[in-house]
Amino acid sequence: MMKDEIKEVLISEEEIQTKVRELGANLSKEYSDSFPLVVGVLKGAMPFMSDLIKRMDIHLEVDFMDVSSYGNEMVSSGEVKIIKDLNTSVEGRDVLIVEDIIDSGLTLNYLVELFHYRKAKSVKVVTLLDKPEGRKVDLTPDLAGFIVPDEFVVGYGLDFAERYRNLPYIGVLKPEVYQG
Ligand code: PRP
Ligand code: MN
Ligand code: MG
Repeated sequence: MMKDEIKEVLISEEEIQTKVRELGANLSKEYSDSFPLVVGVLKGAMPFMSDLIKRMDIHLEVDFMDVSSYGNEMVSSGEVKIIKDLNTSVEGRDVLIVEDIIDSGLTLNYLVELFHYRKAKSVKVVTLLDKPEGRKVDLTPDLAGFIVPDEFVVGYGLDFAERYRNLPYIGVLKPEVYQG
């Protein structure tokens, strides 16, 4: 079974759902006078985005972007390639970017700058997980669910080689799994 490959549950399903309700309530207040464009970053943000918007008791529009980091770790230019762009114009819109995790910050740094360049009225970021130790650029989310240590975490959208996204909790893999 997939769960036999998990060393430790870091954040349980219940803890996640409680936090998502709290974040949703905060965001409902934040955007009570707006009609925000909520942008999920594929693929990792998918489960969080799905749960979060159901806890936002306001009118909103959803859209998705798929991006991938260019090159390798030696290049910290923050260059990101757009795989799938938005279907919607962000001009004059309040944009809320939804992420599963911020590590180096390169992905979000690129998206925040892109949406400002495209004349969004405001750009904010909500992330379920924040890994501050991984940062390569100065980026602070407007809202974060949990701070995680510098460990390889999977589940609830986060993958290892595309697997484990469908775990309902955040866990740490057993070393033998990623050591082959
Ligand atoms: C992961 C994660 C974030 C990003 C965070 O996505 O979902 O989007 O990396 O890392 P960063 O802060 O160092 O940029 P990934 O590019 O692996 O794609 P995925 O969401 O499809 O797994
Ligand atoms: Mn991602
Ligand atoms: Mg990934």
